[in-house]
Amino acid sequence: MTKILTVPTTPFEGQAPGTSGLRKKVKIFQQPGYAENFIQSVFDVVKPESGAVLVIGGDGRFHNRTVIQQAIRMAAANGYGRVLVGQGGILSTPAASHVIRKYGASGGLILSASHNPGGPEEDFGIKYNIGNGGPAPENVTDAVLARTKVIDRWLTVEAPDVDLDEQGRAHVGEMIVDVIDPVRDYADLMEELFDFDAIRKAVASGFTMRMDSMSAVTGPYAHEILEKRLGFAAGTVVNGTPLEDFGGHHPDPNLIHARELYDLMMSDDAPDLGAASDGDGDRNLIIGRGRFITPSDSLAMLAANIQIAPAYRGRLAGIARSMPTSGAADRVAQELDVPLYETPTGWKFFGNLLDAGKVTICGEESAGTGSDHVREKDGLWAVLLWLNILAVRGISVDDLAREHWARFGRNYYARHDYEGIATESANALMKELTAKLSSLPGATLGPLTVREADSFSYTDPVDESVSANQGIRVLFEDGSRIVFRLSGTGTQGATLRVYLERFEPRFGHLDAETAAMLEHQVAAAEAIAGIARHTGRSAPDVIT
Ligand code: G6P
Ligand code: ZN
Repeated sequence: MTKILTVPTTPFEGQAPGTSGLRKKVKIFQQPGYAENFIQSVFDVVKPESGAVLVIGGDGRFHNRTVIQQAIRMAAANGYGRVLVGQGGILSTPAASHVIRKYGASGGLILSASHNPGGPEEDFGIKYNIGNGGPAPENVTDAVLARTKVIDRWLTVEAPDVDLDEQGRAHVGEMIVDVIDPVRDYADLMEELFDFDAIRKAVASGFTMRMDSMSAVTGPYAHEILEKRLGFAAGTVVNGTPLEDFGGHHPDPNLIHARELYDLMMSDDAPDLGAASDGDGDRNLIIGRGRFITPSDSLAMLAANIQIAPAYRGRLAGIARSMPTSGAADRVAQELDVPLYETPTGWKFFGNLLDAGKVTICGEESAGTGSDHVREKDGLWAVLLWLNILAVRGISVDDLAREHWARFGRNYYARHDYEGIATESANALMKELTAKLSSLPGATLGPLTVREADSFSYTDPVDESVSANQGIRVLFEDGSRIVFRLSGTGTQGATLRVYLERFEPRFGHLDAETAAMLEHQVAAAEAIAGIARHTGRSAPDVIT
């Protein structure tokens, strides 16, 4: 029997899992016992059955390998029978979700801070996913937080590091460690879902794309799937080698951080499709030649066309979107006569709906789209679904967007972020806003009249759990909307997100500038919330 070592410890403050796991600066994670306390708290809560399988993977960022080795030893001490870990410590978040499901694992540890920058001075994160492959629901994360507050020991075994760079089997204590190909299972799944032949034909007839993997985890996946299996030219995937610091960039696929891709797509040299993915591979950015598609529109357009892809033929059970995501998908759901679910921000809220077969496709304004094939959002999946649709329909991204708006109308949409503001100011703003909610209906702000204002609360239709205080909604008579919410993923200070939306019906202005269309909503947001007064900022830091 391998000797289990019990290491005494004391709690660290602030180990609350946010929207998507525990995220902190690397320096904080490097404190002795910090990661160990959190991982042990997870194990103490989920209580693995003896012999259970655990998946471990990460986005390759700095500190990944250190935590993986420690997690492997701790898994051995906590009764796991087998650990599956991606070669090089790599598994994209959607690939980890798939591996958990495919191999019947009891859960997985995903080491990532998603789209946050990486490196010794930057961010790290740990997230636990449950046996369905999805992020742990709130009852689990709440229990983990409670456990981190009282933890007094963690368990490990004495064992050398596992060679993460060679695929194959090793033993740590009595536990098996399988270092697996991080790409193959996932790539095979994609080939089952989509019409690769149709895409290959389009490529052979001259369809081109650029995939910017942002020096993050999707590089190896994109090389294999796009260049090797689908026949796109070498060089289609750029920034395709995962780097520990993402080359010093923010691996966040938006118009700020993927600027080069955007500029290319707006130029005369643009390929047919431009796409990017984030640090851990679950987010996506879609840009056609001369046409950026907002994540909210992407969800709606994919939902309207998803049945073109072989795995989704004749089966669109329903659509889910997070509350701040625009109502574009609602119009598709209505027209196709399928239910639409509005959930709080965070992919974990889709898990029950997907498990219960109530929805087939889900999406969020934060650049996440996915389906029931895994229990995470999935960047490359979204790119492949777009490719499948464009290839079969022989249509450009721009034409598809125009056609969509002409049929469903257009939801103009923007998100304004105020980053790194003092937590007290952010809380004061939200508090003041909450206090005046009941007085808002009937108020006029320029041409807008408030119809309804509330703090969003969600009752899960499957397990009836209630999640309250999920953002402030202000709905106007003309159908436009403003949402105020504090980010749950930052690592420093607070980020205020203001989501602005206005609907134009099918015969309205369908090709106007978003900023011009949202002018009144922007002014109303300032008037209602006093953003400048509370934050000292006269303009947002980022507009997406
Ligand atoms: C992560 C989650 C998403 C969520 C996003 C929101 O990426 O996986 O599901 O939409 O965070 O982030 P925020 O910073 O707005 O809380
Ligand atoms: Zn991510």
